[in-house]
Amino acid sequence: MKTLVVYYSRTGKTGMIAEEIANTLGCDIEEIIDTKSRSGILGWLRSGNDARNKSLTVLNDLVNDPADYDLVVIGTPVWAGHVSAPVRTYISQKQAYFNNVAFFCTAGGNNFAGVFMDMTDLAGTSPTGTLGISGKDIKSGTYQSKIQDFAKVIQM
Ligand SMILES: Cc1cc2nc3c(=O)[nH]c(=O)nc-3n(C[C@H](O)[C@H](O)[C@H](O)COP(=O)(O)O)c2cc1C
Repeated sequence: MKTLVVYYSRTGKTGMIAEEIANTLGCDIEEIIDTKSRSGILGWLRSGNDARNKSLTVLNDLVNDPADYDLVVIGTPVWAGHVSAPVRTYISQKQAYFNNVAFFCTAGGNNFAGVFMDMTDLAGTSPTGTLGISGKDIKSGTYQSKIQDFAKVIQM
């Protein structure tokens, strides 16, 4: 199965999980780059507002075409209980080109349901698997076994 991991990460946590998933699956990986500054306290506030308002943003050009893949695994940080604006934009733009999707997210806490609902609605299709990683999972290292379980499910 030809698989692409595609993710946005503001501070590196979702990126770290994305790398681990791509290494586990031995597949391609691509980072979504936002043209909007999201650094510092202003960037943090803007990000929360964008997520709450379901705003779209402008992304840098992407290299990989999702239509070339059997499965696209999409990762986002949780922002104000929602999918991040860059990933909302990515799914909205590519929605017609996905064959199958799976979703993952990272959050400070462990409430992931709203994000996966957002992503499912945007993609217009149910994911073959979902993975939520909390700050605690990252600190304790339990994210590793969760990635292994997720990889098994989405490769079936
Ligand atoms: C604007 C903003 C809003 C956030 N809202 C939530 C939230 O509602 N729930 C939560 O558990 N974590 C929330 N977080 C924490 C991030 O989801 C968490 O730190 C995530 O792992 C960051 O991923 P990244 O390093 O890939 O950017 C928020 C972070 C930001 C910047």
